Amino acid sequence: MRMYDLIQKKKQGAALSGDEISWMVKEYTNGAIPDYQMSAMMMAICFQGMDETETLQLTLSMRDSGDVLDLSSISGIKVDKHSTGGVGDKTSLVLAPMVASLGIPVAKMSGRGLGHTGGTIDKLECFPGFTTSLSESQFIENVNRIKLAIMGQTGNLAPADKKLYALRDVTATVNQMSLIASSIMSKKLAAGSDAIVLDVKTGNGAFMQKESDAFALAEEMVRIGNGAGKRTVAVITDMDQPLGFAVGNSLEVKEAILSLNGQGPADFMEVVYALGAQMAILGGKADTQEEARALLLDAVKSGAALKKLAEFVEAQGGDGNYVYHPELLPAAPHILEVKSSEEGFITRILAEEIGLASLILGGGRSTKDSEIDLSVGILLKKKRGDHVQYGDTLATIYASSMDKALEAYGKIVNAYHIGETPEKCPMIKGVIKEA
Ligand code: URA
Repeated sequence: MRMYDLIQKKKQGAALSGDEISWMVKEYTNGAIPDYQMSAMMMAICFQGMDETETLQLTLSMRDSGDVLDLSSISGIKVDKHSTGGVGDKTSLVLAPMVASLGIPVAKMSGRGLGHTGGTIDKLECFPGFTTSLSESQFIENVNRIKLAIMGQTGNLAPADKKLYALRDVTATVNQMSLIASSIMSKKLAAGSDAIVLDVKTGNGAFMQKESDAFALAEEMVRIGNGAGKRTVAVITDMDQPLGFAVGNSLEVKEAILSLNGQGPADFMEVVYALGAQMAILGGKADTQEEARALLLDAVKSGAALKKLAEFVEAQGGDGNYVYHPELLPAAPHILEVKSSEEGFITRILAEEIGLASLILGGGRSTKDSEIDLSVGILLKKKRGDHVQYGDTLATIYASSMDKALEAYGKIVNAYHIGETPEKCPMIKGVIKEA
């Protein structure tokens, strides 16, 4: 087989066979196919798409490109959660300890920031010493002991996806439905949990901007998950404005800690409770949404979820003291307020623009090897539906220099759309259980 012929075939719109896909994934993983040929293939897939059979084959080939975790030595129904990526999405930082504090084993695999969206691992690294490079046995031991462990896509888990994910990030080939579905599900299937809850974002800051595309992606992933024998549920949630107020690693960790103290932003907590309820039901702790929500609310009110976060940070080498003293987290030296030059109601906050502003500040990666600055970001002061007067502060920028802050300023101003009437937009668009 020659990669050249496969690129040509896909460019012309034909479907690749199972053998061709598994050969391509294997040879790319072991370095025999160079990045430039794989980039051409990714671009051809962006233009020509893949059918359901190709997508499933790509998922399974990527899953099998490395180790598939065997979590059978963990008792209970292991539940994993994944978000398709958003701006200000610190959901896992709150949800994982909340659900684990109910006694449900959360064996989670997380990623780093990609493009304008953030990643859980970068956020967790705000805790000094914290690591997600756990061996399989440490991972299992931690879940058995404290019900929660988060590992990175280190070691040999879906290495094909790891390599491809980094390549797609810098070749403008991220937001293609089959590529996203196979990327996410290959990792989820390799990570070995029994059940999976997917948070599929839609709106301006999401990879799937159109709601109909987000539903299609959710259906595709639920089909793959259930087909591979894992109970899979997808919740489609709003990403037409950043989630919560904080965007940027350390700022988001602070907001997550506030949320576990019962002071989370309303839009953010709505998403947390919707996903948490699905996890509690799949994990066998509740039969109904209402029952699940009551358990989760109590986990926050009693302080059990916050305690679980500290325990988890400590278990993975971090300083759990920071959970009780978030003022110790990295803080940027320069602060600039973004003012409104109009009066009216906020109708939209383009999440992608805010994500790009955070990228300009150094809070995200523009190439696969970029270093990120954990301290920088944006704190939104006004959200959709709020009324603003001329001169009101829309957002506060936290930057490493005033030059960078001024560079981000314009993007943030442009992100805010102000109109005459407030618009309503539900946070939860739908739930897919079986595709
Ligand atoms: N998240 C992933 O894990 N993969 C993608 O392709 C996009 C978002």
